[in-house]
Amino acid sequence: MMGPMRPVIIAGNWKMHTAPADAGHLAAALADATAEPAVVRVTCPPFVALAAVRDALAGREVAVGAQNVHHEAAGAFTGEVAAAMLTGLATWAIVGHSERRRDAGETDAQIGQKLRRCLETGLRPILCVGEGLADRDAGRAEPAVRDQLDGAWASFAAGPPGGADDGAELASRLVIAYEPVWAIGTGRTASGADAAAMARVIRATLAGWGWPRSSAEAVPVLYGGSVTSATIDAFMAEPDLDGALVGGASLKVEEMAGIVARAALTAHARLEAS
Ligand code: PGA
Repeated sequence: MMGPMRPVIIAGNWKMHTAPADAGHLAAALADATAEPAVVRVTCPPFVALAAVRDALAGREVAVGAQNVHHEAAGAFTGEVAAAMLTGLATWAIVGHSERRRDAGETDAQIGQKLRRCLETGLRPILCVGEGLADRDAGRAEPAVRDQLDGAWASFAAGPPGGADDGAELASRLVIAYEPVWAIGTGRTASGADAAAMARVIRATLAGWGWPRSSAEAVPVLYGGSVTSATIDAFMAEPDLDGALVGGASLKVEEMAGIVARAALTAHARLEAS
């Protein structure tokens, strides 16, 4: 494989499913069915189930992620959760999921602020980007995704510096999930080739911000949108893609066992080639 050896990551986004009483049991069952050390596994339950999932995963090599963080550090935001509140509960966070862009009106500028909150509190962000069907059909998928990335980066870069070189810090922690909106929860996936082409656009966009090419190339890019054990291979076959963000199938133990087993084949091949 050319360039940096990127990890293979399978993240599960449980969305608004499970409660504290059943989430721990599910997380443990998923962890035991997917025990592949070569694959980085992340489970993202609802906020209220984070503690139960953290406890259930103690001693199991699965990270816990939140599904969102607020873009402000603290304040009068009823019902919201700040990144710093997740300390001890989660080590990853999904940022800018299309359902939040759609339902909560999240803007690229807010999403850039969320990235900063993640870095301030030591969370590893999974930044979601992806075009809607109208943009895909109009041949505008790539500019739509570039605009989302550029908007988030502009807002991140405009914020107060988080350290000597906060761009470099973001580069070292960032994971991007390419999730075409028309593929989420629809049973319809992008083709492996189209998703890989978008991964190249994404890394070229990061390089366009002045990030060293090697840093841009090292950022993992996942595919998301109706991934199942039957569709994962198309994405894992693409060297430009590094895993998946899984929604509906992430609640099913058999499905996740299959997805992670398939991803492990790629992870092992990368380790052997490195
Ligand atoms: P899906 O969701 O796998 O159910 O399509 C993916 C996501 O929204 O992250």
